[in-house]
Amino acid sequence: MTLKHLLPAAIIACVFFYSCGSNPQPPAENQNSTLKEPGDKSGAAVATDDSKGKGKFTDVTLTHPLDQKMVTSAKAIYDVKCGACHKLTDEKLVGPGWKGVTDRRKPEWIMNFVVNTDEMIDKDPAAQALLEKCMVRMPNQHLSDEDARNMLEFMRNNDGKN
Ligand code: HEC
Repeated sequence: MTLKHLLPAAIIACVFFYSCGSNPQPPAENQNSTLKEPGDKSGAAVATDDSKGKGKFTDVTLTHPLDQKMVTSAKAIYDVKCGACHKLTDEKLVGPGWKGVTDRRKPEWIMNFVVNTDEMIDKDPAAQALLEKCMVRMPNQHLSDEDARNMLEFMRNNDGKN
């Protein structure tokens, strides 16, 4: 056993002590240190549900009905690269559960987060808020653009979209 082998177990262990996503949080008023003033006085820097995040995806076209081939292809990646940290329910594991993620976030935000994870966590207010709750920084999973698009389809399918 090396440290490399022990690390995932340590991360999982942390999950039992930290809360993130749907778990109850103490009132934000008591966490002044975690409150951030937006740099931009206009308030434009504050993430809203409409935020597309930071990265190359600015205009994702959704297809109806869902493309089941894309869903299946992403399921294989989910099993290997995401399932250790993300449940398909709204329950938190290491990261937030994915149920409802396509309602919380724009398609572009999701794809930018998946492909441009580091910049998103560094600069996107919504991603930073997640990090403050989860206490674990999601490692970039090195998905191709195509895989990221397939993953979005998988999340839409999980949310019962059509
Ligand atoms: C080592 C654990 C880990 C792995 C593996 C992981 N994630 Fe994450 N993910 C997180 C954490 C933690 C967050 C919350 C943001 C943060 O703290 O970095 C997150 C956040 C997210 C979000 C935003 C969720 C929301 O509610 O807005 C998406 C989308 C996401 N991850 C996609 C993926 C995809 C796709 C994969 C697999 C290719 C993956 N993640 C693999 C830990 C992980």
